[in-house]
Order: sequence, then structure tokens, then C-alpha cells
Amino acid sequence: MKKSVSNFLSGLLIGIIVSVSSFALFVKYNKNSGDGKKVLKLAHNQDNKHPVHLALVQMKKRLEELSNGTISMNIHGSSVLGNTANCIEQLSTGKLDLSTSSVANMEAFVPEMGLFSLPYIFEDGEHYWNVLNGKLGKTLLQAGESKKLRGLCYFDAGSRSFYTKNKAINTPDDLKGLKIRVMSSPIAIDMVKCLGGSATPIAFGELYGALQQGVVDGAENNPPSFYTTKHYNVCKFLSMDEHTRVPDTLLISTITWDKLSPQERKWLQIAADEASKLQRELWAKKTTDALKAVEEAGIKINYPDKKLFMEKVKPMYKPYEGSKIGNMLKEIDKLKKGK
Ligand code: GCU
Repeated sequence: MKKSVSNFLSGLLIGIIVSVSSFALFVKYNKNSGDGKKVLKLAHNQDNKHPVHLALVQMKKRLEELSNGTISMNIHGSSVLGNTANCIEQLSTGKLDLSTSSVANMEAFVPEMGLFSLPYIFEDGEHYWNVLNGKLGKTLLQAGESKKLRGLCYFDAGSRSFYTKNKAINTPDDLKGLKIRVMSSPIAIDMVKCLGGSATPIAFGELYGALQQGVVDGAENNPPSFYTTKHYNVCKFLSMDEHTRVPDTLLISTITWDKLSPQERKWLQIAADEASKLQRELWAKKTTDALKAVEEAGIKINYPDKKLFMEKVKPMYKPYEGSKIGNMLKEIDKLKKGK
């Protein structure tokens, strides 16, 4: 009898301890917790060694410093809160506060972002960053406001090239009959078609399986992503045609933004700008390291003659003449060297 009373009491005690600590955790990790601290929920789709993740970790630290601990962020990487399209949906309902997204994955919501999926519109990395840091880049960050998406900054995502399972891509003809995964961008689908292949949009987090099972014969991405996703375990050829430069952006839900004070917005913007700067610095090294690492893992890297690809995609620009995207292309051209 005595034993069962003591069992009951210790059970009760454990129950109370568990409930109290769960409640404490709930308060700590919910935004606007009782102590006035705001904890913003952020999602992204990269692993924890990727420059985007490292820059976001610094952003969290800076935000806490600047705000004297009154605002922080919880970072959820590796698509654990859903793929980019899901995260954009969650931003638009205010379920999520912040998320990174490739601008290509925003095309369905903000058609102007399709601009970046047009091939060979930048001369080099410098030209691309001059555009992003200039008037056009700043305007585009605000272009999703009606969809409740506000861009805080860009992250470098280098240039994208094809990688394939069975053969190298030396000329556009080599893409004939191949199924290539692209991001959720109608313009990217057009580009692959124009080059001679066929394109299938698949979420980033599902691509490894799709490559393995032969749903697609290849994909296209920047070297750091090819490396960190381990797609090189399946695709043995990386063909550096560098067809597009499609940046990532850090988005905040305007539902969250509107609830922040002017001072809080300022802190968030400073922390985001610093994160963008750091990410860009980390990016260059990560690209060199990734190329070296995949080569050491036995991947064949080839450097096709880009002119062949440029020539083949020429018909893609014509339909945009006189449109919003066409006008933006003119702005981009003006920032080319020697213009
Ligand atoms: C890159 C980019 C991501 C994007 C991914 C993709 O890794 O940085 O934002 O989601 O490519 O191909 O889906």
C-alpha cells in the first residue's frame, strides 16, 4: 500500500516537472513570449555547413546584440519546415516569419523574379552584384509586398551549371533526350527546352532521391550545392556552362514586418545586410573548395564552349521586348563594363 502511494507521488512529481519545463520551453520559443522577447521563426533549405546557414547564424547573434536580447531568431535548416514553396505559403499567412528562397522559386508569386532565370544576362559575378546592389536589385526586393513577401537582402548563389548521371554536356546537343531537374521557374523550363533537353521542376530536398531513382537524368546548380547535397554521389559529370546566376533572397513576412517597431526593423535590416556581406565572402571560398572536393571524389568536370549555349538561347529574349522584364534587361545591360 505504502509502495503504491509513493509510486503515485513520484509519478505525480515527474508529471509536474515535465509540464513545467514544457511550458517554460513553450514560452521561450514562442514569439512575443511573456518576457517581451520576440523570437522569429526562420526556415531555409541548406545544410548546416552551407554559407547561407553560417551567415544566418551570425545574423541571429548580431540581432540579439543590437536589440540587447529583445529579439532573436530560431533557425530551421535542411527544409525541415517544408520546401521553399511551402515556406513562401507560410510567410504569406504569417505562420513563418522569415525564409530564404532562390528568386527562381518566387516566380509564381512575383513574375518579375523570372528575370534571373534568363541565361547569360550577366557578364560576371561583379556585374551581377552591381545589379543586385543597385536600383533594380533594391526595387525587386520590394516587388513581392502584395504577396506579403518583403526581401531583406540577397545571398550569393554563384552561377548554375548542368550535372548529369551518364555523360558530360559539351554542347547543347548533348542535352537531347535528357530530363533535367530545374527549380520552380517556367523560364528555367523554357531554357532547358530551348537548349534541347526537357525539364522537370522538383523541390530541392527531393532531388537526391529523384536522381537516384532515375526520375531525372541530371540537374543544374552551383558547385557548393552540388557538393553539400552529395548529388555527386549519383551524378558523375559536372559541365561548367554557367548558364544562369540566380541569387537567393532572405524574405520576411510583411505580417511580421508590420508588427515590428521602426527601431526593431532597423536592427533586423542591419543584421541582414551584415549577413549578406559575410555570406558573399564565404561563397567564393566555398565554390573553390567544392570544385576541388568533387574532383577528388572522381567527378569529371568539363568547361564547354559557352558561346554554343549563348547562341542557342538567343530566341528566348525576343518575347520580352517592351515588357517589364525586357525593360529590366535594358537596365542590366547598362551596367555592363564599357557601356
Ligand atoms: C541553390 C539555391 C537554393 C535553391 C537550390 C535549388 O542551392 O541556393 O536557394 O533552392 O539551388 O536548386 O533548388
